[in-house]
Amino acid sequence: MQKQPPKEPEIREYTGPRGYPLVGVLPAVGGDLLGYVSKIWREYGDHFSLRLGADTWYFVVHPEDVKYVLQANHRNYLKPYASLKDLLGEGLVAADGALWRRQRRLMQPMFSHKKMGHHFGAMLEGGKQLLSRWSRYEAGHEVDVLAEMHRTTQHVISQAMFGDALEGQAEQLCDALDITMHCLEQRMFLPSFAKGWPLPVNRRYKKAIHVVSEALQGLIDAHLAEPERFDDLLTLLLQSQDEETGEMMSHQQVMDEVITIFFAGQETTANALSWVWYILSLHPAIAQKMYKEIDSVLEGRFPTFEEILRLDYTVQVFEETLRLFPVAWIFQRQAIEEDILPSGYRIPKGSLVTLSPYLTHRHSAFWEDAEQFRPQRFVFETRRKQHLGAYYPFSSGPRVCMGISFAQIEATLLMVLLAQRYRLELAPNAQVLRKPTATLRPYPCLPMRLRPRTDGPKPTDVTDVGGDRARGERTKAGDGSCPMHGQRA
Ligand code: HEM
Repeated sequence: MQKQPPKEPEIREYTGPRGYPLVGVLPAVGGDLLGYVSKIWREYGDHFSLRLGADTWYFVVHPEDVKYVLQANHRNYLKPYASLKDLLGEGLVAADGALWRRQRRLMQPMFSHKKMGHHFGAMLEGGKQLLSRWSRYEAGHEVDVLAEMHRTTQHVISQAMFGDALEGQAEQLCDALDITMHCLEQRMFLPSFAKGWPLPVNRRYKKAIHVVSEALQGLIDAHLAEPERFDDLLTLLLQSQDEETGEMMSHQQVMDEVITIFFAGQETTANALSWVWYILSLHPAIAQKMYKEIDSVLEGRFPTFEEILRLDYTVQVFEETLRLFPVAWIFQRQAIEEDILPSGYRIPKGSLVTLSPYLTHRHSAFWEDAEQFRPQRFVFETRRKQHLGAYYPFSSGPRVCMGISFAQIEATLLMVLLAQRYRLELAPNAQVLRKPTATLRPYPCLPMRLRPRTDGPKPTDVTDVGGDRARGERTKAGDGSCPMHGQRA
C-alpha cells in the first residue's frame, strides 16, 4: 500500500462576538473588561478575538500558545506601547530592538538576585516607616491597606533609586506620578487621535509629566554634582557603561529608565501586597500557617536578607496570590508577520496579541480547583510538574519582568514585618471589588482593621523609627483611612 503524505495541520481562525460598527464590543464591556473577557472565554474557549473600537484583540490563553508567543517565537511579537512613550520615552518597558537589548544588558545586573542585598536596606527602611506609622494606632483602627501599601512601595523605590537625595521633593514627585498613573488609566480607551486633543485628562497628564521630568532632572543634577555622596540606583544608572561599546546612557535615557522603574515597580507590588492581605483575611488557617513559619524562623526579629529566602511557605502564599490576582492581568504584543500558534490558530500580520495571566492562571485543564486559594500548589515538587506557560505573573522569556527579585524580596519582607505584629481583618460591610485597569487592584479601597498579635514572640520595637522622613507626612490618606470608602476609626 502506498504511504500517505503527512496531513497538513488544520489552520483555524479566531472567532468572537460581532459587536457594533465602529465601536465593536465596547458598549458590551461596560467598563468591566475583566468580567467581559472572562465571560467570553467561557463561551468561546481559549481562542477568541474582540473588536474594541478600531483595534481587534486576539487572546492567547492556552499555556502552550503563551510559551510560544513569549519565548519560542518572541521575535515576531513586539511591544505595542507607542502611547506610553510620552511618559516612559525609550525606557525598558516600552522600548524594542537594539536599544532594548542594550538597556537590558546594562540594567539587568542592577536587579540581579545578588544585588538585592544592596537594595534590602531601602526595603527595610520603607517597612519600618510603615510599622512606625501603624504603631500610633489603637487596636482595631481601620486603615486603607491599598493606600498604605502604595505609600510604602513608593517609599521603598524612591529610597532605592535616590537615597536621601529625594528629601523634601518626595511628596511632589510621588503626587505627580500618581496623577500620571491615574490619567494613563483614563486614556486607555481614548482612540489614538484623541490623545492629543486638549481634553482635561490630556492636559493634566502633560502637566504631571512635566513636573516629574523637572524633579528628575534636579535629582540627576544633584547626583552629577556630588557623585561620591550617593550609593543608589540612579548612581548606578549614571555610571553604567556598555561592555561591548563602552557607551554610557544619555541623561534622557537615564530619565526614561527612572520613570519606567517607578511606573513598573511601585503600583504592581503595592497591589499584589494588598491582595495578599485581602485573601489571607478570608483564609485564617493559611494565615496561621504563615505566621507560624515566620515566628519559628525569626522569633520576632527583623529578618536579614538571607532569612527572607528561607521562608518557603510565605513565598508560596505570595505566589498563589499572584496566581489568582496577577496584577499585570493583561498585556499585549503586536505580530510583525502572520503566524500559526501551536494550537493551529492563525494570528494575522499586525494584529494585537493579548495575553492574560488572569485567564491562564484559572485554566481548569492546568489548575485543579483553579478558583481555590492553595499556596501548597507552589511546593517545589508540585510546581516542577506544572506547564511552563501556565503561570506567568511576571511574563516570561526575554521580556520577563526585570524586577522579579526586587518584587519578591520586598513583598516577602513587608509580609513578614506586618505578620509579626498584626492580623488584618476585613472591615465589616467592606465591599471590595476587582478593578482591572492597567493593573488589577482592589476597588475602591481595602479597608481593614489592625488587630495586634499577642500569640507570637515579642517583635522588635519600632516606635523609635520616627516619622515618615522620605515622603513627608502626606495629608492624602494620611490617617490611613480610605478617602472613597469614607470610614475613619
Ligand atoms: C508584583 C510585582 C510585579 C509584577 C506582577 C510585575 C509584572 C511585570 C510584567 C508582567 C512585565 C511584562 C510586561 C509586558 O511585557 O508587557 C513586567 C516588566 C517589567 N517590570 Fe515588572 N512586575 C512587578 C514588579 C516590578 C518591580 C519591583 C520592578 C523594578 C523595580 C519592575 C520592573 C520591570 C521592568 C523594567 C519591566 C520591563 C522589562 C523588559 O521589557 O525588558 N517590575 N513586569
